[in-house]
Amino acid sequence: MRLSRRFARTGQTNELTLERARLERAGRPVTDLTDSNPTHFGLGSQAVSDAVARAAAAARVYQPDPKGPPVAREALAARFGGSPDHYWLTASTSEAYSWLFAVLADPGEQVAAPAPGYPLIDPLARLADLRVREVRWHYLEPDGWCLDPMTVKRSAELGVKAFVLINPGNPTGAYVDPATRDLFVEACRTARAALISDEVFGPFHLEGRPTTLAGCDQVVTFTLGGLSKLLCAPGLKLGWIRLSGPNDQVKAVGEALDQVADTFLSVNSPVALALPELLELSGPVVERTRRRLEANLTALRQVLGQEPFRVRRCDGGWSGIVDLPREPADPALGADPTVWLVRQAGLAVHPGWFYDIADHPALVLSLLPETDDFQDRCHRLRAALETLLAPGRLGRPSPAPGVKDPGQPSRRGSDKAVPKPRSGLARRSNGPRSRRRP
Ligand SMILES: Cc1ncc(COP(=O)(O)O)c(C=O)c1O
Repeated sequence: MRLSRRFARTGQTNELTLERARLERAGRPVTDLTDSNPTHFGLGSQAVSDAVARAAAAARVYQPDPKGPPVAREALAARFGGSPDHYWLTASTSEAYSWLFAVLADPGEQVAAPAPGYPLIDPLARLADLRVREVRWHYLEPDGWCLDPMTVKRSAELGVKAFVLINPGNPTGAYVDPATRDLFVEACRTARAALISDEVFGPFHLEGRPTTLAGCDQVVTFTLGGLSKLLCAPGLKLGWIRLSGPNDQVKAVGEALDQVADTFLSVNSPVALALPELLELSGPVVERTRRRLEANLTALRQVLGQEPFRVRRCDGGWSGIVDLPREPADPALGADPTVWLVRQAGLAVHPGWFYDIADHPALVLSLLPETDDFQDRCHRLRAALETLLAPGRLGRPSPAPGVKDPGQPSRRGSDKAVPKPRSGLARRSNGPRSRRRP
């Protein structure tokens, strides 16, 4: 049987994933510095399970509503603003993307998404037969991430159907500031495109000031949120879409979303009915998680924040980015230092190229573990990196400015990002599954 082209295999499984699987098969312990499943780190709340159990009784008689139960949408509107009629519940934020892609674009059309960025956008777009154009963000120390306006304008000229913003970015942590927001609004007007603002990490601000596009009425705007981050409860499977925009367009878009929602009816009633109570419980969960992230970012800076390493500014989110000196692209060690790290030190870290970080060799770490444990992991990582970088260990000089380094990251355009299942080898809940390197 021939599978659809959406499942055409391109490239090979990357060396990091293979190496990790080899070690695990051999029973060698691997410490996972990428794990961003909050339920592994005691960040959930028992009260959440109790609230869902109570709501299960009320859900015994099924009363389907394509948008989700009114009581849930009223609670969302009370919490985040807007009208309950402009909210749609979904089984996850990921599902929300696929509904929006189905509503907004025809097969073969394009959506724009940030690079570096959340790797699941590519496969979600592929499932809808869409192509992804990258909107490139650049990192400048000490200001943080800023956008290349030309890539936005060019995407608009080429007629993308939607601009995806991740606010704050994963893994960049960058919030969309007002000037950048205006740029996207203008681009949407030019292209008659929609804005999709994924704000699942919005409440987790660290070194920056949070922003939101919720309620933007200049262009058709979808703001996405969900319980996987807000309650540290990815297993509850509940996300939502808030629609805003010019009145004449909101009506037609809303009717299309109603049709998709009515086709799937994918939201589970107990969690949806518990939502008013769950939103009440989210405050303490967010605060506790934020304090953990803050403490871990401080620890990361203490251990890996000095030359020859650098911890990038992190305005929000659940990830820390550590820059490495350029040298680790030594063929003797494999082009990717993360392969060496897992093989020699039993430390699994994501390389920056998983997320299209293209400017510098970098590592991406989850900031979720308990802080003592996290500090210990950072020290182990530093010790391993020092071994890797010891004088004479690496024989190769850095490439001259402007010369492409063979160890440089892969790029989205090469279509190599074939993911494994979310629960698969990469074992993450908010990051790349198992990217392939070309
Ligand atoms: C930026 C971003 N958006 C959406 C999601 C998916 O959320 P959900 O679990 O609701 O599908 C994730 C991670 O899992 C994410 O990192």
